[in-house]
Amino acid sequence: MKHLVAPSLLAADFLDLGKEVEMVNNSEADLFHVDVMDGHFVPNISFGFSIIKQIKSIAKKPLDVHLMISNPDSYIKDFRDSGADWLSVHYETCPHLHRSIHLIKELGMKAGVVINPYNNVELLQGILPDVDFVLLMSVNPGFGGQRFIEATFDRLRRLSKMKEELNPELIIEVDGGVSKNNAQPLVEAGADVLIAGSAVFKASDPVRYISELKNPE
Ligand code: DX5
Ligand code: ZN
Repeated sequence: MKHLVAPSLLAADFLDLGKEVEMVNNSEADLFHVDVMDGHFVPNISFGFSIIKQIKSIAKKPLDVHLMISNPDSYIKDFRDSGADWLSVHYETCPHLHRSIHLIKELGMKAGVVINPYNNVELLQGILPDVDFVLLMSVNPGFGGQRFIEATFDRLRRLSKMKEELNPELIIEVDGGVSKNNAQPLVEAGADVLIAGSAVFKASDPVRYISELKNPE
């Protein structure tokens, strides 16, 4: 499958959020990436249900909601009801990961697990057959605009090998510091979804930038 592109709304202009959502609607982007932060699991707070519902009301592409919150189990149904189509939880926040993943699936969403940049991909071996996607953090979660961690390439290649053996349908997302400078090598190393925030929303022509991420050289 050709890789997907998911602009991260964390970097959007919140005073003009409707316009930003329309921009993504009218671009080659495949998904909206929606970052939820609680000021507890990560040292930043973003937004919650009411904003997600409003985004959903005009979004013409699925919402990929990335939970950077402690105790996500308590909120999985609320995120589904707010409009999440894909939902991911951090490995580090789920003591009963198998149960969390299956709850997400039972509620009709694609279920994903996220790992921090310096957690080994091998930790995911047991859960890999159960998840629809893995989100590999390529920066420490909490903020947009950080520098891409190069060690991600090695982790991505190792995860791609595990995918062949354990779940060939698995979708691998990469999140953090993604730009047109690393898009092509990331796809070659096995990324199926490129998530990009500041590179897209700070570009002078975001629609064109999304197209360049979709068709990298
Ligand atoms: C970081 C978030 C990312 C962030 C990416 O914690 O998970 O989705 O929005 O932003 P950039 O592309 O600016 O690194
Ligand atoms: Zn994210």
